[in-house]
Amino acid sequence: MDFKYQTVKEVYETFLADTESTIPSELKTKYLGKKGKVKQLLKDVGEKPKDERANFGKEINTLKHFIENKIGQLSVQTKAKFSQDQIDVTAPFDINTSQENKPKLLNKVGSKHILNQELENILNVFEKMGFDIEESRQIDDDYNMFTALNFPIGHPARDNWDTFWTEEGYIPPAHTSTMQNRVLKSYKIPIRVVVPGRCFRNEATDASHEHTLHQIEGVYVDKDISMGDMFGVIKEFLEGIFEANLQIKIQTGYFPFTEPSAEIMISCPFCKTRGCNICSYSGWIEIMGCGMVHPNVLREGCIDPEEYTGFAWGFGLDRVVMMKYGIDDIRKLHSGELEFLDQF
Ligand code: DAH
Repeated sequence: MDFKYQTVKEVYETFLADTESTIPSELKTKYLGKKGKVKQLLKDVGEKPKDERANFGKEINTLKHFIENKIGQLSVQTKAKFSQDQIDVTAPFDINTSQENKPKLLNKVGSKHILNQELENILNVFEKMGFDIEESRQIDDDYNMFTALNFPIGHPARDNWDTFWTEEGYIPPAHTSTMQNRVLKSYKIPIRVVVPGRCFRNEATDASHEHTLHQIEGVYVDKDISMGDMFGVIKEFLEGIFEANLQIKIQTGYFPFTEPSAEIMISCPFCKTRGCNICSYSGWIEIMGCGMVHPNVLREGCIDPEEYTGFAWGFGLDRVVMMKYGIDDIRKLHSGELEFLDQF
């Protein structure tokens, strides 16, 4: 802008310089306020020779309009910028701050926990084989946890399950087999059901034991079901989950609710059977228990063991995830450590 009067020109120039560093509300006070620079100029009008007063007054008005418009524009820009810069306290940020020492926003919003990702994969594999899904529960009773599964009262095998009890005599289940009786009673034969759920064990934690873990139970009941069918299903599942070539070994086991019972071992993926602290130097890791459903369990589930047979299994999801991804400490899965979780 071109002003003829020196005093107007000076106010115009200082205003322009001020817009670089002064916020709009301060500019308004400094230039348009009661004691502002524009008002000061107006006071000078009377001192000008009469024939110049009109022109001088016009220039001041032009300057005043210019300043008003400019301050208006600047405050719109500042508001927009402020809303962009505002801190979103819910936004994930990187704990390693950037060079300017400002928190850096993560460019990733988050992801499903690896246990949930794998649970979905596993349930998918079973759904493709025609299994229904029935979720387990987090509080149960003695009948479902033990009695219906052929553990007579006072039987020493009850001690193998390191069970928590509430003061009222309820149990946060130590295995998903706690759902077997309900499944046998409520599903129609042929029964093909998988039961994922959280389990609780009253035991000391270490690299391969946690007090809270996840299991996936399976129950299959129909006419003429044999152990061959059981190994077929388990093999298909293990091959679907571990794309790696692991060796599998079957050994006899004992569970009150199956007869015969078996344990499935996989070659230790950490030491490739050479022996390490993860597999207790045996080279093998037990991945699941299984067996033919005991006739007493079928009877308790209102199924005639003379007519029908079935098999069941149970395995730890956490352990499967550890083996698949080479995680050497089960406790990491519940640690909430971002550095660990970010890998998946
Ligand atoms: N419930 C057993 C456990 O927690 C696992 C298990 C073994 C489940 C054999 C079964 C089975 O259904 O048939 O160790």
